[in-house]
Amino acid sequence: MEADSRMSHSERKILVTNALPYANGPIHIGHLLGYIQADIWVRFQKLRGNECHYMCADDAHGTPIMLKAQQLGITPEQMIGDMQKSHEDDFAGFNIGFDHYYSTHSEENRELAETIYTRLDKAGHIKTEVIEQLYDPQKEMFLPDRFVKGECPDCGADDQYGDNCDVCGATYAPTDLKNPRSVVSGATPEMRQSEHYFFDLPAFGDMLKSWTRSGSLQSEMANKLNEWFEQGLQRWDISRDAPYFGFKIPGTENKYFYVWLDAPIGYMSSFKNYCDTTGKAVWDDYWQADSQAEVYHFIGKDIIYFHSLFWPAMLKGADFRQPTNVWAHGFITVNGTKMSKSKGTFIKARTYLDHLNPEYLRYYFAAKLTSRIDDLDLNLTDFAQRVNSDLVGKVINIASRCAGFISKKFDGRLSSDIADATLLEDFQQAGTQIAEYYEQREFAKAMRDIMALADRANQYIADKEPWQLIKQPDHENEVHDICSLGINLFRLLMIYLTPVVPELSKSVQNFLNDSFSWDSHRSALTNHPINKFKALMQRVEMDNINAMLEASKEQQQDQASVAPAVANDELKKEPLAEQISFDEFAKVDLRVALIANAEHVEGADKLLKLTLDLGGEQRQVFAGIKSAYAPEKLIGQLTVMVANLAPRKMRFGMSEGMVLAAGPGKDEIYILNPHDGAKPGMRVM
Ligand code: 2FM
Ligand code: ZN
Repeated sequence: MEADSRMSHSERKILVTNALPYANGPIHIGHLLGYIQADIWVRFQKLRGNECHYMCADDAHGTPIMLKAQQLGITPEQMIGDMQKSHEDDFAGFNIGFDHYYSTHSEENRELAETIYTRLDKAGHIKTEVIEQLYDPQKEMFLPDRFVKGECPDCGADDQYGDNCDVCGATYAPTDLKNPRSVVSGATPEMRQSEHYFFDLPAFGDMLKSWTRSGSLQSEMANKLNEWFEQGLQRWDISRDAPYFGFKIPGTENKYFYVWLDAPIGYMSSFKNYCDTTGKAVWDDYWQADSQAEVYHFIGKDIIYFHSLFWPAMLKGADFRQPTNVWAHGFITVNGTKMSKSKGTFIKARTYLDHLNPEYLRYYFAAKLTSRIDDLDLNLTDFAQRVNSDLVGKVINIASRCAGFISKKFDGRLSSDIADATLLEDFQQAGTQIAEYYEQREFAKAMRDIMALADRANQYIADKEPWQLIKQPDHENEVHDICSLGINLFRLLMIYLTPVVPELSKSVQNFLNDSFSWDSHRSALTNHPINKFKALMQRVEMDNINAMLEASKEQQQDQASVAPAVANDELKKEPLAEQISFDEFAKVDLRVALIANAEHVEGADKLLKLTLDLGGEQRQVFAGIKSAYAPEKLIGQLTVMVANLAPRKMRFGMSEGMVLAAGPGKDEIYILNPHDGAKPGMRVM
């Protein structure tokens, strides 16, 4: 790669971005792979002394966000504001050190989107065309593919989305579905015409092909692009009709930019806001057409098309610079399979943080990441073993074996001599290769080299046996030198690990009275005071991993175990559900039930186990009402239950029905009570 020549410059100018998360859902561990990968790379660049700016933002526009806010009964602005806050907290929890976090729903982004669009239009790259699309006459909106369901035109399976069939895998247009219905209102959609705006991607074919052949792209990405070139590039539909949450297209009455038009522009506008608010006058240096700065986008493999075709072409057509590179990563699996809500492996960032140290995951990802687009398996047993054996058992162990002697016997001061200069030099020279691996995003190779050095350091100490030598009075100096070298070797390893485990590194810098840059590895600490050694990192306990899985499972169950399903306390105004017929209602068998017993469930944060008496027959029901009720308060009360709900197997046992309760969740949940006189088993109509 070009890395070598670039690294000879004293200071590079680098801008790094991660894919912008949508503002309608929480961050989960699947998201984290890319953010951790980019953060490690950025921290490495900064440690090297390069100018590096790390930008992100919430991706705030589009139909799903508009509809979700409606569902919650709040404005989209309020929803994206709340979501951005929680995303920022989650990222901070994982020590993702963005220099700036912004939103695509910003004035800077509106202006830049308009500028880019206007320049493309002036250059003749925007065309219009009238297209036919499914329209929801009740909700009065055009329907994106995912908002139409119906029967698969190939196999006839019902309840399939408008773009592909989950059952037979067929792909088709939403207009091909049989008996289509709108997911939003249930209405039968109709065909309607509307004028759309298209970006002329094919006009950029030559430029994109030469970019692909430049040799700097990941090989899997170049192959993918070549496939797309063979299929032929298509014009890209960049407009959506009102109602839409986004930016209006200049010069139109009711057309909006499709969310994917302004999303990547969010990279530029986040940086713009950052430059303006921090007084850095460098935005133009980075984005003008002939910029010498480097721009890298870290993305997931599912959004390569947008970033390697549309995005460079848009930039080119609007006379801005193109990215230096786009780096895609694969997806994560957990214990060998896709993240699963029922197995508890759909783990939210927050749930992880409630149970485990973020640096464990950062290290584990680093130990498995390559520069390729391969998927990465988070095997939780392997995760625990790897972190315990490498970070705790190898690296930290070096310090804990040596530090006690230094503080107890040598007044907390490292020796003036280096006991084994060759060993120290080997560790220092290894830094060149490790840096090269970081630069190339070959983090697994970097971790492998670092752990091999850790093995050598431990071997050195084991061979020298300072704990034996110290018993012989005339060997004190030797012990001092051995342990001081041990601490110096540990220090070098921690310099090399700083991009991966920044918090641990900070504690180590405090312990050593030192402040690391990458170049610190060229020196050693001699005749230098250090502090008392404190435990730097706990071992990963399987109990905590299991508790995290339980909590993830419970979050799933809680959403389904109280009717109405209102685990979300933001759900202030629930819109009324679709109308049903009396016959449909009559299918639900509601009964008066006596709460014969209520008890806590071992290991469940939110559930109570209820025994409900229907006048002879007893049912066991798990209800997510623990936050609102002490169990003893419920025993003896009458309530209403859905008696003919099919039993469901839950984590803690079968749940044979559902109690009715109202409220937004948390401590505001009210179970329904019939008036005096109602008897267990009576039908409720
Ligand atoms: O796929 C996604 O999650 C998008 N929100 C990524 C956008 S990346 C950039 F273009 F904004
Ligand atoms: Zn099918």
